[in-house]
Amino acid sequence: MSFDLVLFGGTGDLAWRKLMPALFQAFRHGTLPADGRIIGVARDDLSNEQYRALIQQRFAQVDLAKRPSDEEFGRFAELLQFQRLDLSKPQDYGRLKDRLQQRNADTVVMYVATAPTLFTTVCEQLAVAGLNTPATRIVLEKPLGHDVASNRQINETVLRGFSEQQVFRIDHYLGKPSVQNLFALRFGNSLFEPLWRREHISNIQVTIAEDLGVEKRGAFYESTGALRDMVQNHALQLVCALAMEPPISADADALRDEKLKVLRSLRPWTTEAIGQFAVRGQYGPGTVGGEPVPGYRSEPGVGAESTTETFVALRAVIANWRWAGVPFYIRTGKRLAARDAHIVVNFRPAPHAIFRTPLGEANRLVITLQPRDGLQLHLLAQGQENRRQGQSLTPVHLDLDFDKRFGSERVGAYERLLLDVIDGRLNLFVRSDEQEAAWRWVEPLLDAWQGNDNGLRPYTAGSWGPSAASAMIARDGFCWSEEC
Ligand code: BG6
Repeated sequence: MSFDLVLFGGTGDLAWRKLMPALFQAFRHGTLPADGRIIGVARDDLSNEQYRALIQQRFAQVDLAKRPSDEEFGRFAELLQFQRLDLSKPQDYGRLKDRLQQRNADTVVMYVATAPTLFTTVCEQLAVAGLNTPATRIVLEKPLGHDVASNRQINETVLRGFSEQQVFRIDHYLGKPSVQNLFALRFGNSLFEPLWRREHISNIQVTIAEDLGVEKRGAFYESTGALRDMVQNHALQLVCALAMEPPISADADALRDEKLKVLRSLRPWTTEAIGQFAVRGQYGPGTVGGEPVPGYRSEPGVGAESTTETFVALRAVIANWRWAGVPFYIRTGKRLAARDAHIVVNFRPAPHAIFRTPLGEANRLVITLQPRDGLQLHLLAQGQENRRQGQSLTPVHLDLDFDKRFGSERVGAYERLLLDVIDGRLNLFVRSDEQEAAWRWVEPLLDAWQGNDNGLRPYTAGSWGPSAASAMIARDGFCWSEEC
């Protein structure tokens, strides 16, 4: 199968930080179809050779294990080409068309890794130039819009030129091996599914903590914030994977129909619920990894009076039969104590106590996404020392490390998703109706927080966020797993 992958934003941050390294890994693993071209597109005036040199230079910053040798890069570089293109000039798309028609590849992927404000321009111009043939697939990075209306407007524009089956909306969390494993755990085994419901589960916690700050993206982040950047997409997709009904098959629409049902079951926010179960915070100066770091308001591109949230903790309520009364807590933030993403499924305690059982760590399934990919089952066991002390039990855990089990050279999220686009598999991409339902759920919070600092809690960089997040969960009688 032959493919052309056109990378709009070909000299941009995402291209060299994530996409080129992922394409190189696929090339190294022998999974990238051999008959392909990767055509970087940008306004710069570069020859193919200059573009290759630029990418090679940037690869020097990639982790050593993922960095190509000169010989490997030489072979990979044969796939790379560059096309100068001004996104607003129709004639430039005409030139791109000529280039693509040189060989009429079986699949043409248009990867739009530009500023979000340019998505509709690119899609419209592609359609005008007749570059929306049945062989074309279009990939859109997040964020797709900043609220329900803008999201709908982008999707409507895209869908005027392309069918839904041609649109691949990326949420890179769906490409993470641990998220694949969550589907496997739930729907490839029969062990947990009978317990996966309100009768046996008391609450579920999704934590995506980052130790990084906003890096060089201060200006972008100012108008985005944690709710749009992480909750509307990544965190809600994790909630969907946790809460969805078993799909009738692994087909894309079977999966996406079930995820959509979860999003539509999310109880809408009321003013009272926002006051009690939605916490927002912003980091101040602190210490991360032993180094002093500035507060958010001192980051480049950020206003001195900024009210943008860098931390969010929420309670999501899924109003359906399976999950009635089971809170899903979501917590995400920048400049927290560690890079740590995990899901905790807390099972209900045994209904009748015959042991002097310690509460806390037991009856819990933990799915770790970052920094390592694994699964731990926390149980209670009878240890030697307990016999002397009487009938109390000790918390123990079974620990499955997927990196050790399958090797750390596993397929990364972008690598997996790029190969899926080339192969035309839509399973791990977000449908427009899912995206709109997710925006619909977060929008009342966006409105309530817009342009004011009511309830915006400062937290010290390097901490676990504002204490209000603990108070929020304590209101239901629970605690974040590391605090119990
Ligand atoms: C991106 C956000 O979607 O996800 C970033 O825009 C965030 O702000 C990143 O840092 C986190 O991804 P990961 O894979 O490092 O957890």
